[in-house]
Amino acid sequence: MIETSPSFDIFITETSRLDQVDFDHLEFGRVFSDHMFLMEYEDGEWQRGRIEPYGPFTMSPASMVFHYGQAIFEGMKAYRQGNGEVSLFRPGMNIARFNKSAVRMCMPEVPEDLFMEALAALVKLDSNWVPGGSEAALYIRPFMIATDAYVGVQASKKYAFSIFTCPVNAYYKGPVRVKVETSFTRATPGGTGFAKAAGNYAGSLYPSMQAREEGYDQLIWTDAMEHKYIEECGTMNAMFVLNGTIISPETSDTVLDGVTRNSVLTLAKDLGIPVEIRKFSITELQEGLESGALTEAFGAGTAATIKPMSEIGVNGKRYPLSDSDGWQIVPWLLRELDGNRRGEITDRFDWNIPV
Ligand SMILES: Cc1ncc(COP(=O)(O)O)c(C=O)c1O
Repeated sequence: MIETSPSFDIFITETSRLDQVDFDHLEFGRVFSDHMFLMEYEDGEWQRGRIEPYGPFTMSPASMVFHYGQAIFEGMKAYRQGNGEVSLFRPGMNIARFNKSAVRMCMPEVPEDLFMEALAALVKLDSNWVPGGSEAALYIRPFMIATDAYVGVQASKKYAFSIFTCPVNAYYKGPVRVKVETSFTRATPGGTGFAKAAGNYAGSLYPSMQAREEGYDQLIWTDAMEHKYIEECGTMNAMFVLNGTIISPETSDTVLDGVTRNSVLTLAKDLGIPVEIRKFSITELQEGLESGALTEAFGAGTAATIKPMSEIGVNGKRYPLSDSDGWQIVPWLLRELDGNRRGEITDRFDWNIPV
């Protein structure tokens, strides 16, 4: 079936896979909704896009993304609201960050209005795929790849922009054990750490694998120059509660400007919880863990939401944190953030965009 919007065509599947999905046992990132958005860039402009049934692409082996890694992506979520409707959470921030990543990787920006229209139409069309449930959501993955078939290091002249969605449950089951990494580096000044460039994630796999072999779930990355200051926690922004104040390492060209981090800090300030955005050294972290002044620690990210850290490894010592059920600030923030996204409390910052 074909429908048209002013900006793209819509081809609706005749064979929905919805009834094959076990929504009670969703594995994160393994189940894909019925439709995807696809739009090609060539001859210096975006071509007319389309929503079509989710399925594979056919690509030349010489497609530049396979060799030179011009690939960027985003991660965002749509939530089932208390009243049954579906809303996107702060999509404008993801769209802006996507285009910032595009500029850094020499890729064409996607017009914001078109991006928003495509997102809303796709999520609306597959709104039956948005699960309900306290940790469930529809994860949305926009991405762009270089598709020109050419061998030679330069910016591609052709790109594909696509969006697909996945019904998901919790990313991590329970709190995470993290290790402060002081040898490997995720991002360097002048590099691409602030962008969601695919290569950043490929480079993080080896150190993460080593941490897992030592019994950790994730790494806390430190600065590339001195390995002295905390930057991020895996694919989450790291935050700590020290003497009742939330400490959030500042964002920079090596730290991703997270939507969840921004939301948590905005809510915390609104709730009157003291916040400091500043450099946070490993020494200060270790002293806080030893003295007990550091009471709560967590990662903030779209996929994982707000994840308490149950153990932090620093300089070869492992520091367990108290059971997060008894924490003061993290459960409060989680209730506020989740309540806001699910329309259960007043959306006082107009973050929810209904589709
Ligand atoms: C490296 C990195 N840091 C932090 C985050 C958290 O950002 P957000 O809250 O926008 O998902 C992500 C996830 O996008 C990430 O990949």
